[in-house]
Amino acid sequence: MMNFDYHNPTHIVFGRERLHELDRLIPENAKVLVLFGGGSVRRNGTLEKVLAGLGKRDVIEFGGIEPNPRFNTLMKAVDVVGKENIDFLLAVGGGSVMDGTKFIAAAAHYPGNPEDLLKHGFAPLPIESAVPLATVATLPATGSEMNMGAVISHKSGKLPVMSPLLYPQFSVLDPTLTFSLPPVQVANGVVDAFVHVLEQYVTYPVEAKVQDRMAEGILKTLIECGPVTLAEPENYDARANLMWSATSALNGYIGVGVPQDWSTHMIGHELTDLFGMDHAQSLAIVQPSLWKIRKDKKRGKLLQYAERVWDILEGTDDERIDQAISMTRSFFESLGVKTRLSQYRIEQADIAKVINALENHGMTALSETGDMDLAISNQILQDAYA
Ligand code: NZQ
Ligand code: ZN
Repeated sequence: MMNFDYHNPTHIVFGRERLHELDRLIPENAKVLVLFGGGSVRRNGTLEKVLAGLGKRDVIEFGGIEPNPRFNTLMKAVDVVGKENIDFLLAVGGGSVMDGTKFIAAAAHYPGNPEDLLKHGFAPLPIESAVPLATVATLPATGSEMNMGAVISHKSGKLPVMSPLLYPQFSVLDPTLTFSLPPVQVANGVVDAFVHVLEQYVTYPVEAKVQDRMAEGILKTLIECGPVTLAEPENYDARANLMWSATSALNGYIGVGVPQDWSTHMIGHELTDLFGMDHAQSLAIVQPSLWKIRKDKKRGKLLQYAERVWDILEGTDDERIDQAISMTRSFFESLGVKTRLSQYRIEQADIAKVINALENHGMTALSETGDMDLAISNQILQDAYA
């Protein structure tokens, strides 16, 4: 196991009927900006409950944060924070609203040009403070409710933003708030959480037994609860397990002391940016082909994954690995998430645009060992085409 520090300050408030506790969780004299997306929270009654929970506080609403939140939209909220002297941000929504709110929190206190905040990649932002923020998560997928990261769409690309100052102070996770999700978003959430685990687990072995078994436990839970949730949208136990799986997949806990990959995400972000597919859809395309091409680099962990997650015990090493890859692809497809680039009406020649974008964003040495160059990314995308 490698050395690590772990500190996650986010207070999780989990379970049914917890929104009235916002009154206890947010400072009494706070002036709150409530941020949300395209209106699902208005239609399903969540916003109303949030506003009731905020009691007599001075509250302003900011709606319209789009999926894959855009810099220009977020800057409008930064203006509101300044003009209205907002001192607490409450994100009510999925990963896009939570991520957007994190960026707003950083940008509102930043003395320089906020566009510069998008230039630091995975390094912590050079900021000294941020507006305190919290979330009410309505979509289990990204883990944004309990991590310090955000991904922001800008004309120059889909760019990560990280800072320990951007951990939510608390996150309310009420599985009943996810009952209203359309099936496509449920499926997206399962795939996203699944791939978050894979990027921290299918690398090379370092004898990190707790992290491995936690990762395997989350993967098995997603395999079990994903389909049940799709079949029975109001099954509370399935929703609750799905929600806690997604949070656990990317709150840093399974990633301590182990190598991490993130190549599937980096290539996936370019696909979303160029072709507009959902985040999870991009991951479902890249992951199986990445494994096919990189089988030899990930052999030990792929065999462990085959045995412990899919119970594959028969056959040669190669046969077991191939079967695990094909079962992963089938799992994504069984949820309704397509796994081939050609299924998104993209020409094979467009792969060159993805490679170009990876180059422009400096994504030329990906993987857990930094040995994945553009030629390998190209091979993966060619394999993923059809
Ligand atoms: O905008 P509204 O009307 O709210 O509708 C949303 C949106 O259309 C809808 N939705 C959310 N909760 C709902 C609901 N509809 C009905 N009932 C509910 N309870 O779902 C749609 C998608 O929402 P979005 O927030 O975009 O989805 P998701 O949570 O998958 O977030 C994706 C974003 O997160 C980033 C992605 O890149 C993408 O921009 N990621 C963030 C990460 C992080 N912060 O750690 C890591 C991830 O790898 C990912 O990159
Ligand atoms: Zn993701």
